[in-house]
Amino acid sequence: SNPSLLILAGDGIGPEVMDEVKRIIGWFGEKRQLGFDVSEDLVGGAAYDAHGVPLHDDTMAKAQDVDAVLLGAVGGPKYDNLDFSVKPERGLLRLRKEMDLFANLRPAQCFDALADFSSLKKDIVAGLDIMIVRELTSGVYFGEPRGIHMEDNMRVGINTQRYTEAEIERGARAAFELAMKRGKKLCSMEKANVMESGILWRDVVTEVHKDYPEVELSHMYADNGAMQLVRAPKQFDVIYTDNLFGDILSDCAAMLTGSLGMLPSASLGLPMANGRPKAMYEPVHGSAPDIAGQGKANPIACILSFAMALRYSFDQGVEADRLEAAIEKVLADGARTGDLMGPEGGTPLSTVQMGDAILG
Ligand code: NAI
Ligand code: MG
Repeated sequence: SNPSLLILAGDGIGPEVMDEVKRIIGWFGEKRQLGFDVSEDLVGGAAYDAHGVPLHDDTMAKAQDVDAVLLGAVGGPKYDNLDFSVKPERGLLRLRKEMDLFANLRPAQCFDALADFSSLKKDIVAGLDIMIVRELTSGVYFGEPRGIHMEDNMRVGINTQRYTEAEIERGARAAFELAMKRGKKLCSMEKANVMESGILWRDVVTEVHKDYPEVELSHMYADNGAMQLVRAPKQFDVIYTDNLFGDILSDCAAMLTGSLGMLPSASLGLPMANGRPKAMYEPVHGSAPDIAGQGKANPIACILSFAMALRYSFDQGVEADRLEAAIEKVLADGARTGDLMGPEGGTPLSTVQMGDAILG
Protein backbone atom coordinates (compact mmCIF):
# COMPACT_ATOMS: atom_id res chain seq x y z
CA SER A 1 0.00 0.00 0.00
CA ASN A 2 1.06 3.61 -0.49
CA PRO A 3 2.80 5.53 2.28
CA SER A 4 0.40 7.80 4.15
CA LEU A 5 0.67 11.55 4.49
CA LEU A 6 -1.50 13.85 6.58
CA ILE A 7 -1.66 17.42 5.28
CA LEU A 8 -2.44 20.16 7.79
CA ALA A 9 -2.35 23.36 5.75
CA GLY A 10 -3.34 25.66 8.62
CA ASP A 11 -3.78 29.43 8.32
CA GLY A 12 -2.76 32.44 6.23
CA ILE A 13 -0.39 31.48 3.42
CA GLY A 14 -0.34 27.86 4.72
CA PRO A 15 -3.11 26.68 2.37
CA GLU A 16 -1.67 28.73 -0.53
CA VAL A 17 1.79 27.17 -0.40
CA MET A 18 0.33 23.75 0.37
CA ASP A 19 -1.71 23.85 -2.86
CA GLU A 20 1.55 23.86 -4.80
CA VAL A 21 2.84 20.88 -2.79
CA LYS A 22 -0.39 19.01 -3.56
CA ARG A 23 0.18 19.59 -7.27
CA ILE A 24 3.70 18.22 -6.91
CA ILE A 25 2.40 15.18 -5.02
CA GLY A 26 -0.05 14.66 -7.89
CA TRP A 27 2.84 14.88 -10.35
CA PHE A 28 4.78 12.17 -8.47
CA GLY A 29 1.74 9.88 -8.61
CA GLU A 30 1.19 10.46 -12.30
CA LYS A 31 4.70 10.71 -13.70
CA ARG A 32 6.75 8.66 -11.28
CA GLN A 33 4.23 6.05 -10.13
CA LEU A 34 4.95 7.26 -6.62
CA GLY A 35 1.54 7.39 -4.97
CA PHE A 36 0.74 8.70 -1.51
CA ASP A 37 -2.29 8.04 0.60
CA VAL A 38 -3.05 11.71 1.34
CA SER A 39 -5.57 12.91 3.91
CA GLU A 40 -6.21 16.48 4.99
CA ASP A 41 -7.34 18.11 8.19
CA LEU A 42 -7.40 21.36 10.13
CA VAL A 43 -4.86 22.87 12.51
CA GLY A 44 -4.37 26.23 14.20
CA GLY A 45 -6.89 29.00 13.72
CA ALA A 46 -8.74 26.98 11.06
CA ALA A 47 -9.31 24.18 13.60
CA TYR A 48 -10.29 26.71 16.25
CA ASP A 49 -12.93 28.19 13.93
CA ALA A 50 -14.36 24.74 13.21
CA HIS A 51 -14.00 23.02 16.60
CA GLY A 52 -13.08 25.63 19.22
CA VAL A 53 -9.66 24.00 19.69
CA PRO A 54 -6.46 24.45 17.65
CA LEU A 55 -6.14 20.68 17.18
CA HIS A 56 -9.03 18.23 17.39
CA ASP A 57 -8.43 14.89 19.17
CA ASP A 58 -9.35 13.05 15.96
CA THR A 59 -6.68 15.01 14.07
CA MET A 60 -4.13 14.19 16.78
CA ALA A 61 -5.03 10.50 16.46
CA LYS A 62 -4.63 10.63 12.67
CA ALA A 63 -1.24 12.31 13.02
CA GLN A 64 -0.08 9.45 15.27
CA ASP A 65 -1.19 6.96 12.66
CA VAL A 66 0.35 8.25 9.42
CA ASP A 67 3.87 7.88 8.02
CA ALA A 68 4.36 11.64 7.95
CA VAL A 69 2.59 14.92 8.70
CA LEU A 70 3.10 17.93 6.43
CA LEU A 71 2.13 21.23 8.06
CA GLY A 72 1.75 24.67 6.44
CA ALA A 73 1.63 27.43 9.03
CA VAL A 74 -0.61 28.52 11.90
CA GLY A 75 -1.69 31.81 13.43
CA GLY A 76 -2.78 35.27 12.40
CA PRO A 77 -4.05 38.56 13.83
CA LYS A 78 -7.60 37.18 14.06
CA TYR A 79 -6.41 34.79 16.77
CA ASP A 80 -3.94 37.02 18.63
CA ASN A 81 -6.29 37.72 21.54
CA LEU A 82 -7.45 34.16 22.15
CA ASP A 83 -6.80 32.52 25.48
CA PHE A 84 -3.33 30.95 25.63
CA SER A 85 -4.82 27.45 25.93
CA VAL A 86 -6.49 27.66 22.49
CA LYS A 87 -3.96 29.77 20.59
CA PRO A 88 -3.12 28.38 17.11
CA GLU A 89 0.50 27.65 18.15
CA ARG A 90 -0.82 25.26 20.79
CA GLY A 91 -1.97 22.96 17.98
CA LEU A 92 1.58 22.78 16.74
CA LEU A 93 3.03 22.29 20.20
CA ARG A 94 0.57 19.49 20.91
CA LEU A 95 1.61 17.65 17.74
CA ARG A 96 5.31 17.98 18.62
CA LYS A 97 4.77 16.93 22.20
CA GLU A 98 2.41 13.98 21.74
CA MET A 99 4.35 12.63 18.74
CA ASP A 100 7.48 13.10 20.87
CA LEU A 101 9.39 14.80 18.04
CA PHE A 102 12.72 15.30 19.77
CA ALA A 103 15.01 15.92 16.79
CA ASN A 104 14.47 19.13 14.85
CA LEU A 105 16.31 19.16 11.52
CA ARG A 106 17.05 22.57 10.07
CA PRO A 107 19.03 22.52 6.84
CA ALA A 108 20.84 25.64 5.69
CA GLN A 109 21.46 25.23 2.04
CA CYS A 110 22.51 27.97 -0.29
CA PHE A 111 21.19 27.84 -3.83
CA ASP A 112 23.89 29.45 -5.97
CA ALA A 113 21.38 31.66 -7.75
CA LEU A 114 20.48 33.24 -4.41
CA ALA A 115 23.99 33.60 -2.98
CA ASP A 116 23.78 37.38 -3.47
CA PHE A 117 20.91 37.38 -1.01
CA SER A 118 23.01 36.25 1.90
CA SER A 119 24.12 38.81 4.43
CA LEU A 120 27.59 37.33 3.93
CA LYS A 121 30.04 37.47 1.05
CA LYS A 122 29.04 35.24 -1.83
CA ASP A 123 32.11 32.98 -1.68
CA ILE A 124 31.51 32.25 2.00
CA VAL A 125 28.05 30.82 1.33
CA ALA A 126 27.99 29.62 -2.31
CA GLY A 127 27.38 25.88 -2.27
CA LEU A 128 26.72 25.82 1.48
CA ASP A 129 24.86 22.70 2.64
CA ILE A 130 24.74 22.14 6.39
CA MET A 131 22.21 20.58 8.73
CA ILE A 132 21.53 21.63 12.30
CA VAL A 133 19.95 19.03 14.56
CA ARG A 134 18.33 20.76 17.52
CA GLU A 135 17.05 18.81 20.54
CA LEU A 136 13.44 19.95 20.68
CA THR A 137 11.63 18.49 23.68
CA SER A 138 13.84 19.17 26.69
CA GLY A 139 16.38 21.62 28.07
CA VAL A 140 15.87 25.06 29.51
CA TYR A 141 12.50 25.68 27.81
CA PHE A 142 10.99 22.83 29.84
CA GLY A 143 13.22 22.26 32.89
CA GLU A 144 11.83 22.59 36.42
CA PRO A 145 11.95 24.55 38.65
CA ARG A 146 10.84 27.59 36.69
CA GLY A 147 8.88 30.72 37.46
CA ILE A 148 9.12 34.24 38.74
CA HIS A 149 9.16 34.67 42.50
CA MET A 150 10.24 37.00 45.26
CA GLU A 151 13.60 36.79 46.94
CA ASP A 152 14.77 39.53 49.32
CA ASN A 153 12.01 41.85 48.08
CA MET A 154 13.13 41.38 44.51
CA ARG A 155 11.56 39.44 41.66
CA VAL A 156 13.69 36.58 40.37
CA GLY A 157 13.10 34.82 37.06
CA ILE A 158 14.14 31.18 37.04
CA ASN A 159 14.57 28.57 34.34
CA THR A 160 16.43 25.32 34.62
CA GLN A 161 18.63 23.70 31.99
CA ARG A 162 18.11 20.00 32.53
CA TYR A 163 19.06 17.08 30.29
CA THR A 164 19.00 13.36 31.00
CA GLU A 165 21.52 11.04 29.34
CA ALA A 166 18.66 9.38 27.48
CA GLU A 167 17.50 12.69 25.99
CA ILE A 168 20.99 13.63 24.84
CA GLU A 169 21.58 10.13 23.48
CA ARG A 170 18.50 9.75 21.32
CA GLY A 171 19.09 13.10 19.65
CA ALA A 172 22.76 12.21 19.17
CA ARG A 173 21.80 8.96 17.45
CA ALA A 174 19.51 10.86 15.08
CA ALA A 175 22.38 13.28 14.33
CA PHE A 176 24.95 10.51 13.74
CA GLU A 177 22.50 8.62 11.47
CA LEU A 178 22.09 11.80 9.43
CA ALA A 179 25.84 12.37 9.29
CA MET A 180 26.24 8.82 7.93
CA LYS A 181 23.88 9.71 5.06
CA ARG A 182 25.65 13.01 4.40
CA GLY A 183 29.27 14.10 4.72
CA LYS A 184 30.13 11.88 7.74
CA LYS A 185 31.10 14.88 9.87
CA LEU A 186 29.37 15.85 13.10
CA CYS A 187 30.10 18.86 15.29
CA SER A 188 28.48 18.84 18.73
CA MET A 189 27.97 22.24 20.33
CA GLU A 190 27.46 23.02 24.03
CA LYS A 191 29.10 25.07 26.77
CA ALA A 192 30.97 22.36 28.66
CA ASN A 193 33.30 25.08 29.95
CA VAL A 194 30.58 26.65 32.09
CA MET A 195 27.58 24.28 32.21
CA GLU A 196 27.09 20.91 33.89
CA SER A 197 24.59 19.90 31.21
CA GLY A 198 27.30 20.74 28.67
CA ILE A 199 29.77 18.40 30.36
CA LEU A 200 27.21 15.60 30.30
CA TRP A 201 26.30 16.46 26.68
CA ARG A 202 29.92 16.12 25.53
CA ASP A 203 30.33 12.89 27.48
CA VAL A 204 27.21 11.21 26.08
CA VAL A 205 27.86 12.31 22.48
CA THR A 206 31.41 10.93 22.76
CA GLU A 207 29.97 7.63 24.02
CA VAL A 208 27.40 7.37 21.17
CA HIS A 209 30.23 8.09 18.70
CA LYS A 210 31.63 4.59 19.42
CA ASP A 211 28.67 3.20 17.44
CA TYR A 212 29.50 5.46 14.48
CA PRO A 213 33.28 5.23 14.07
CA GLU A 214 33.06 6.30 10.42
CA VAL A 215 31.78 9.72 11.43
CA GLU A 216 34.37 12.36 12.26
CA LEU A 217 33.22 13.95 15.54
CA SER A 218 34.27 17.34 16.86
CA HIS A 219 33.13 19.40 19.85
CA MET A 220 32.79 23.15 19.93
CA TYR A 221 31.61 25.68 22.50
CA ALA A 222 28.35 27.09 21.20
CA ASP A 223 29.51 30.71 21.31
CA ASN A 224 32.50 29.85 19.15
CA GLY A 225 30.06 27.86 16.99
CA ALA A 226 28.06 31.02 16.36
CA MET A 227 31.25 32.80 15.28
CA GLN A 228 32.35 29.94 13.05
CA LEU A 229 28.92 29.73 11.41
CA VAL A 230 29.27 33.29 10.23
CA ARG A 231 33.02 33.18 9.56
CA ALA A 232 33.31 29.92 7.63
CA PRO A 233 30.04 27.96 7.60
CA LYS A 234 31.23 25.46 4.98
CA GLN A 235 33.49 23.81 7.57
CA PHE A 236 30.37 22.10 8.97
CA ASP A 237 28.25 19.19 7.80
CA VAL A 238 25.91 18.18 10.64
CA ILE A 239 25.71 20.18 13.89
CA TYR A 240 24.07 18.66 16.97
CA THR A 241 23.05 20.99 19.78
CA ASP A 242 20.52 21.54 22.54
CA ASN A 243 17.13 23.24 22.44
CA LEU A 244 18.22 26.78 23.39
CA PHE A 245 21.50 26.94 21.45
CA GLY A 246 19.77 25.19 18.54
CA ASP A 247 17.00 27.78 18.45
CA ILE A 248 19.52 30.58 18.07
CA LEU A 249 22.13 28.83 15.92
CA SER A 250 19.55 27.52 13.44
CA ASP A 251 17.99 30.97 12.94
CA CYS A 252 21.48 32.38 12.47
CA ALA A 253 22.42 29.65 9.97
CA ALA A 254 19.11 30.14 8.16
CA MET A 255 19.91 33.76 7.42
CA LEU A 256 23.17 32.74 5.78
CA THR A 257 21.05 31.50 2.92
CA GLY A 258 18.53 34.26 2.25
CA SER A 259 14.75 34.32 2.51
CA LEU A 260 12.42 32.80 5.06
CA GLY A 261 10.40 31.66 2.06
CA MET A 262 13.14 29.13 1.22
CA LEU A 263 13.62 27.31 4.54
CA PRO A 264 12.24 23.84 5.27
CA SER A 265 12.38 21.82 8.49
CA ALA A 266 11.67 18.35 9.81
CA SER A 267 10.95 17.12 13.31
CA LEU A 268 11.57 13.45 13.93
CA GLY A 269 10.72 11.08 16.77
CA LEU A 270 11.27 7.42 17.54
CA PRO A 271 10.82 4.73 14.88
CA MET A 272 7.29 3.35 14.49
CA ALA A 273 6.41 -0.33 14.00
CA ASN A 274 7.13 0.00 10.26
CA GLY A 275 10.63 1.33 10.96
CA ARG A 276 9.85 4.88 9.82
CA PRO A 277 10.39 7.64 12.36
CA LYS A 278 7.43 9.60 13.66
CA ALA A 279 7.74 12.74 11.57
CA MET A 280 6.39 16.19 10.89
CA TYR A 281 7.63 18.43 8.08
CA GLU A 282 6.96 22.16 7.89
CA PRO A 283 8.38 25.37 6.48
CA VAL A 284 10.19 27.57 9.00
CA HIS A 285 8.07 30.60 8.12
CA GLY A 286 4.72 31.49 9.69
CA SER A 287 1.33 32.37 8.21
CA ALA A 288 2.56 35.74 6.79
CA PRO A 289 -0.68 37.70 7.33
CA ASP A 290 0.82 40.69 5.49
CA ILE A 291 0.71 38.81 2.18
CA ALA A 292 -1.91 36.11 2.86
CA GLY A 293 -4.72 35.75 0.31
CA GLN A 294 -2.78 37.63 -2.37
CA GLY A 295 -1.09 34.75 -4.15
CA LYS A 296 2.34 36.23 -3.39
CA ALA A 297 3.80 33.63 -1.05
CA ASN A 298 6.90 31.69 -2.02
CA PRO A 299 5.92 27.99 -1.98
CA ILE A 300 9.54 26.72 -2.03
CA ALA A 301 9.98 26.33 1.77
CA CYS A 302 6.93 24.09 1.86
CA ILE A 303 7.98 22.18 -1.26
CA LEU A 304 11.47 21.64 0.21
CA SER A 305 9.78 20.36 3.38
CA PHE A 306 8.03 17.77 1.24
CA ALA A 307 11.42 16.92 -0.31
CA MET A 308 12.70 16.25 3.22
CA ALA A 309 9.69 13.93 3.74
CA LEU A 310 10.64 12.07 0.57
CA ARG A 311 14.17 11.66 1.91
CA TYR A 312 13.63 10.94 5.60
CA SER A 313 10.21 9.25 5.72
CA PHE A 314 9.72 7.62 2.36
CA ASP A 315 13.21 6.41 1.37
CA GLN A 316 13.01 8.41 -1.85
CA GLY A 317 16.32 10.25 -1.61
CA VAL A 318 16.82 10.20 -5.37
CA GLU A 319 13.41 11.76 -6.00
CA ALA A 320 14.14 14.34 -3.28
CA ASP A 321 17.38 15.22 -5.09
CA ARG A 322 15.43 15.58 -8.36
CA LEU A 323 12.91 17.89 -6.76
CA GLU A 324 15.66 20.04 -5.23
CA ALA A 325 17.45 20.11 -8.59
CA ALA A 326 14.24 21.32 -10.28
CA ILE A 327 14.04 24.16 -7.75
CA GLU A 328 17.72 24.99 -8.23
CA LYS A 329 17.13 25.13 -11.99
CA VAL A 330 14.13 27.49 -11.93
CA LEU A 331 16.05 29.80 -9.58
CA ALA A 332 19.07 29.71 -11.87
CA ASP A 333 16.74 30.58 -14.77
CA GLY A 334 15.68 33.66 -12.83
CA ALA A 335 12.27 32.65 -11.43
CA ARG A 336 11.56 34.81 -8.36
CA THR A 337 8.64 35.34 -6.03
CA GLY A 338 8.45 38.78 -4.41
CA ASP A 339 10.48 37.79 -1.34
CA LEU A 340 13.41 36.85 -3.61
CA MET A 341 13.58 40.15 -5.45
CA GLY A 342 16.19 42.78 -4.79
CA PRO A 343 15.64 46.54 -4.84
CA GLU A 344 16.17 46.55 -8.64
CA GLY A 345 12.67 45.11 -8.86
CA GLY A 346 11.01 43.38 -11.80
CA THR A 347 7.74 41.49 -11.95
CA PRO A 348 7.57 38.76 -9.33
CA LEU A 349 5.99 35.37 -9.97
CA SER A 350 2.84 34.44 -8.09
CA THR A 351 2.71 31.38 -5.83
CA VAL A 352 1.01 29.40 -8.60
CA GLN A 353 3.46 30.59 -11.27
CA MET A 354 6.39 29.47 -9.13
CA GLY A 355 4.65 26.10 -8.75
CA ASP A 356 4.18 25.97 -12.54
CA ALA A 357 7.85 26.74 -13.10
CA ILE A 358 8.96 23.94 -10.78
CA LEU A 359 6.50 21.47 -12.32
CA GLY A 360 7.54 22.60 -15.82
P1 NAI B 1 6.11 35.05 9.24
O1 NAI B 1 7.11 34.00 8.96
O2 NAI B 1 4.69 34.67 9.02
O3 NAI B 1 6.42 36.32 8.32
C1 NAI B 1 7.59 37.11 8.45
C2 NAI B 1 7.84 37.91 7.15
O4 NAI B 1 8.31 37.01 6.15
C3 NAI B 1 6.58 38.54 6.62
O5 NAI B 1 6.91 39.79 6.03
C4 NAI B 1 6.12 37.58 5.54
O6 NAI B 1 5.38 38.16 4.51
C5 NAI B 1 7.43 36.99 5.04
N1 NAI B 1 7.25 35.60 4.60
C6 NAI B 1 7.11 34.51 5.41
N2 NAI B 1 6.94 33.41 4.66
C7 NAI B 1 6.97 33.80 3.37
C8 NAI B 1 6.84 33.11 2.13
N3 NAI B 1 6.63 31.77 2.07
N4 NAI B 1 6.89 33.83 0.98
C9 NAI B 1 7.10 35.15 1.03
N5 NAI B 1 7.24 35.86 2.15
C10 NAI B 1 7.17 35.19 3.33
O7 NAI B 1 6.33 35.53 10.75
P2 NAI B 1 5.49 36.59 11.62
O8 NAI B 1 5.03 37.71 10.75
O9 NAI B 1 6.32 36.87 12.79
O10 NAI B 1 4.21 35.80 12.16
C11 NAI B 1 2.96 35.80 11.50
C12 NAI B 1 2.06 34.77 12.14
O11 NAI B 1 2.59 33.46 11.93
C13 NAI B 1 1.92 34.92 13.65
O12 NAI B 1 0.60 34.61 14.00
C14 NAI B 1 2.86 33.89 14.20
O13 NAI B 1 2.47 33.44 15.46
C15 NAI B 1 2.74 32.79 13.18
N6 NAI B 1 3.93 31.92 13.09
C16 NAI B 1 3.68 30.60 12.85
C17 NAI B 1 4.72 29.72 12.68
C18 NAI B 1 4.40 28.31 12.34
O14 NAI B 1 3.28 28.00 11.95
N7 NAI B 1 5.34 27.41 12.45
C19 NAI B 1 6.12 30.14 12.79
C20 NAI B 1 6.28 31.58 12.97
C21 NAI B 1 5.20 32.41 13.14
MG1 MG C 1 13.65 30.49 16.70
